Amino acid sequence: MSLATTQVWLGMLPCALHDSDVHMGVIASAPAKVILFGEHFVVYGEPAIVLAIDKRAYAEAELRDDKRLYLHSVNLNLSGYFESGFFKIEQGDAKGAKLKFEPLKLAVEKVLEIYGENVGLDVEVNSTVPVAAGLWSSAAVAVAVTAAVGAILNVKMSKEAVFRISYEAEKIVHGTPSGVDPAISTFGGALLFQMDTGFKPLDVKADVPLVIGYTGVERSTRVQVAKVRDGKNKYPRIIDPMMRAAREIVLRAINALKEGDLETLGDLMNINHALLCGLGISDESLEWLINAARKAGALGAKLTGAGGGGCMIALAENERLEQVMEAIQGAGGRPFMARKTDEGVKIEGT
Ligand code: MEV
Repeated sequence: MSLATTQVWLGMLPCALHDSDVHMGVIASAPAKVILFGEHFVVYGEPAIVLAIDKRAYAEAELRDDKRLYLHSVNLNLSGYFESGFFKIEQGDAKGAKLKFEPLKLAVEKVLEIYGENVGLDVEVNSTVPVAAGLWSSAAVAVAVTAAVGAILNVKMSKEAVFRISYEAEKIVHGTPSGVDPAISTFGGALLFQMDTGFKPLDVKADVPLVIGYTGVERSTRVQVAKVRDGKNKYPRIIDPMMRAAREIVLRAINALKEGDLETLGDLMNINHALLCGLGISDESLEWLINAARKAGALGAKLTGAGGGGCMIALAENERLEQVMEAIQGAGGRPFMARKTDEGVKIEGT
């Protein structure tokens, strides 16, 4: 994948922390994201539009005296450590923990391998995506962990390197991800993303007021991506025109975002959702929330991300946002508001 950027360096710490006797933690953060248009289609080379949102994942890394990798998630109330390839749980459900921690472990191992280090680490992750939403913004967490580990080792790491490392980790966990999730959590803002050409920052005039609704249903990106692949293999002459329609939606959305045309954006979200339903990746939990949001006056609503549960998004004029939030809650969802942020991954300090 080519990245249409110049190298942007993350901040470095003033001293090499592992030379010191006293271990201090370094904190990095990265934004969570919503996919406005093009999820799933993006895996087959079509463009997608993504926004970084003002909810962040934080990771604190600290050096240890032994060679263990300790991971702790504040939101998930999980902790444990990896030692010689084995995972030992100290708090929470072992199966869930291994699954959730695997991409983080891989990200840490990649950083250590690339920069030739062999140290033990304590890594604690925390997210400001409302805990009640149950969201584990995994790419944002992996990006923050990668940056925090780079910073504690005091290596010069570009944003591009952070992206590549977290993308590698995601590939091992999710099979064939497009890279859109780690890209937006690394670079922030609004991006037009395409696998073969990389990404381009988008000019967004509108404020894009969004309500995110969590269904409460956990889903697996790997399973959802595989489902689309099966459908595409079985019905190529039906799915291929849908791919072209998804591309056209993205192209029109670029202009609508530039002009701040919320009405068109809402229409395009509804059409995009219909295509995703056609791919079979929506579910009842999402449909309840999407219909409730539309009835409450949202300009458009769709699932966002992998589908099969997870989250939906609704676009609404400012004066309708409360109504849409209430409707999503009334339909059994857990809503919260989100705004675009331009701030990508960053080192917060010690
Ligand atoms: C998941 O957030 C987005 C998908 O398009 C998968 C990917 O792009 O890797 C479903």
